[in-house]
Amino acid sequence: MKRRTLLGGSALALTSLTAQNSSLGALSHAAPVVDRPKRARLEVTENPYGPSPAARRVIAESVPYAPYYVEDETELRQRIAAQEGLVHEQVALSNGSLDALSLLTSDIARGGHVLAPHPTYVTHLNYANRRGISTCYVPLSDHQIDFEAMRKAVTSETRLAYFCNPNNPTGQMIDHDALIAFCRDMASRFPVVIDEAYYELLPDYQHMTMASLVREGLDVIVTRTFSKVYGMAGLRIGYVLARPERVKQLYSLTTTSRNQPGYRAALASLGDHAYLKGAVNYLTQCRERIYSLCRAHGLTYLPSVGTFVYVDTRRPAKAMRDALARHNVDVRIFDDAQYLSWIRIGTATPGELDMLAQALPAALGEVALL
Ligand SMILES: Cc1ncc(COP(=O)(O)O)c(C=O)c1O
Repeated sequence: MKRRTLLGGSALALTSLTAQNSSLGALSHAAPVVDRPKRARLEVTENPYGPSPAARRVIAESVPYAPYYVEDETELRQRIAAQEGLVHEQVALSNGSLDALSLLTSDIARGGHVLAPHPTYVTHLNYANRRGISTCYVPLSDHQIDFEAMRKAVTSETRLAYFCNPNNPTGQMIDHDALIAFCRDMASRFPVVIDEAYYELLPDYQHMTMASLVREGLDVIVTRTFSKVYGMAGLRIGYVLARPERVKQLYSLTTTSRNQPGYRAALASLGDHAYLKGAVNYLTQCRERIYSLCRAHGLTYLPSVGTFVYVDTRRPAKAMRDALARHNVDVRIFDDAQYLSWIRIGTATPGELDMLAQALPAALGEVALL
């Protein structure tokens, strides 16, 4: 794959990245062969350039292991534990972090409700909901978690609190001290789940994580994933940092083992700093390009630390989504009274962002202002 092919025809100024960052070698190596997609998949939030070269190698080399189950996953648990200053009994693997989130939420919150902000990531909350568990949603205030309102919403029925940091779809980091204070005050009453799916993108991520509270022994459950910055969503490896009894609880609920290529690729890419640096640089530049498109069209957006940008189109979000879809660009909308004109635009390949650059002014022209 020639780097020229990756960048060809794109207005995206990635040259500084190519010239300065030797780790882009890892990313360009992983680029799609032809970046001229028929549809721009901006409704998703994955890194289009993963997995890392090391992960790709072991995926190819994992064929001889395909006839066998992953029978022992201690090595990856130990590697993650060492990275986090934990022991492997405080680490569980799961088939994507969604599996852990869904299984733990629906088990822990049985007979009560989950407390969560809105809008946020809800797939596991909907799963729990289908199993009879309700969610008490607390609206964001000025795009931030309203901790005062969340504290007020706690009742004897609250079984679990869920936060996504950075929040999806707003891309906002949660106030670090306020989140720690909430966990300290509440984790003796019910576990607090912190979904760190986009952890590697957080500035100063080693200090922003709530893993320190797991080290202290609080009933805080941190979930992470190889699906986002590591670019391995299709290989379904996630992990949980928690008290040993929560780890045991998750394993008791889990029905199946990890898959061989995913397990091996996760081992090969965990803590690959050169790859992560290149991926984070790339995703950051994608966000910058989305911002500049918004500015060019007078749209407000929330500066994001995720792989997506939440944008106020000032037009009905559903009509904007449909208009963009007619121009072969898919974006995501969230059902929330405060965000009726907002769409979430995911980071993607330069070719997909070129399509957005074409489609956005056309779609804005087709949909009337609110
Ligand atoms: C905030 C958040 N958490 C968890 C997930 C689940 O990802 P996975 O199951 O692939 O780890 C996603 C996926 O979009 C997400 O956005």
